[in-house]
Amino acid sequence: MGQASSVHGVWSKRWTFVLAATGSAVGLGNIWKFPYIAGENGGGAFVLVYLFCIAAIGIPIMMGEVLLGRMGRQSPVNTMLSLAKTVNASCSWVLVGVSGVLAGFFILSFYSVIAGWALAYVVKAVSGSFVDVSAQQIGQEFDALLHSPSTLLFWHSLFMLMTCTVIAKGINRGLQATVYILMPLLFALMLVMLGYSMTSGNFEAGAAFLFNFDPSKLSGEALLVAMGHAFFTLSLGMGAIMVYGAYMPANESIGKMVVAVGFLDTAVALAAGLVIFPIVFANQLDPGAGPGLMFVTLPIAFGQMPAGSVFATVFFVLVVFAAWSSSISLLEPAVAWLVEHRGLSRLSAAMFSGVACWLLGLGTVISFNVASEWTLWDKTFFDLLDFLASNVMLPLGGLAMAVFVAWILPLDRVREQLQDFSEGLLALMIFILKYVAPALVLAVFARSIGVL
Ligand code: PFF
Repeated sequence: MGQASSVHGVWSKRWTFVLAATGSAVGLGNIWKFPYIAGENGGGAFVLVYLFCIAAIGIPIMMGEVLLGRMGRQSPVNTMLSLAKTVNASCSWVLVGVSGVLAGFFILSFYSVIAGWALAYVVKAVSGSFVDVSAQQIGQEFDALLHSPSTLLFWHSLFMLMTCTVIAKGINRGLQATVYILMPLLFALMLVMLGYSMTSGNFEAGAAFLFNFDPSKLSGEALLVAMGHAFFTLSLGMGAIMVYGAYMPANESIGKMVVAVGFLDTAVALAAGLVIFPIVFANQLDPGAGPGLMFVTLPIAFGQMPAGSVFATVFFVLVVFAAWSSSISLLEPAVAWLVEHRGLSRLSAAMFSGVACWLLGLGTVISFNVASEWTLWDKTFFDLLDFLASNVMLPLGGLAMAVFVAWILPLDRVREQLQDFSEGLLALMIFILKYVAPALVLAVFARSIGVL
């Protein structure tokens, strides 16, 4: 039997898991990355593959990840170790937890730099600096931000501080309290923006771009990107969802909660697309603009619309909130592990891991300026970390978790955690975790390295 509670406590309110896991899932991935990679990969066809990956692989793996967490009730490292021991499996399963902690570190180090851009843009928006400025000037301002290591460092440091402050306060006074405030605000702000784009943007063109299916635009690389992004956006494969599962009370339904998280995450990504593309098309901008889509293209549009500074402020505050509720989940696995393993207080664990992550973030900071020429396989330090974590570590971590749940754990242990599942539903989930998810993840990998 799983323990009833963890040393870190359990969520004291009923909806915390959904809010916290949605907070983790909804982030820069939905608002910044999804629209621009959909734009770069041709729109509708990419979106369809992405939705398929969420439903067919993402949701079942998320259920598996949460149930592992709730059975182990510790950080992902110790959860995997103790579960492997109880079922007499190899202790090397601990590597799944270790790679998760590392992936969280890698992701947070660059995530915080990008979230820092959003912080900088809140200030720009409030001060009205997009109003009546030419498209060229806005582009130059973004370039100037990227080319200033000290400015990037300032915002990166502030964002890491915000993240560590929440983490240090513990799971109920810190994480739970924060998501109860941020998530409703985030949804409200999103609705305001959606209302704006529906009434003032070229909504039809935006929607057509997102939903018109043109298979000729799908490359092997696009499949890998769609799958990697499904893992990234649902925060899967690195233990963030596992550790949130570890704090979930024993009587809550994993199935229902996970479906709610998957639904809300997808809704926000599509809504972000439906906010951004109508504005892009109404202003004859380029949907394939890449990472600058949200930071260059949108401000150009904000600068031309009535009350643009207000909408720009709303929008970038929304992005910061979304990033903040995700960043805390990126650090929590490491902090939980330091508390368990080293007996550190949460404050020391948060500070120690926060400083380490901040240091690694310096690599991303300089990859946009002084070190932009330092590349490996044509990728800068930032690109490499993103590729390695999102497209390799998360899918492989998720794959390993699926294998552990479906092949290693006795079925009865899984059934105990999913008591509201009918036998048919349970069999379906195990089938997906056993065969479908591994086959799809491996096929996409094989295709991307040219074997298939
Ligand atoms: N899901 C987050 C996003 O879409 O921005 C990013 C993320 C958070 C990835 C936590 C992984 C994770 F463990």
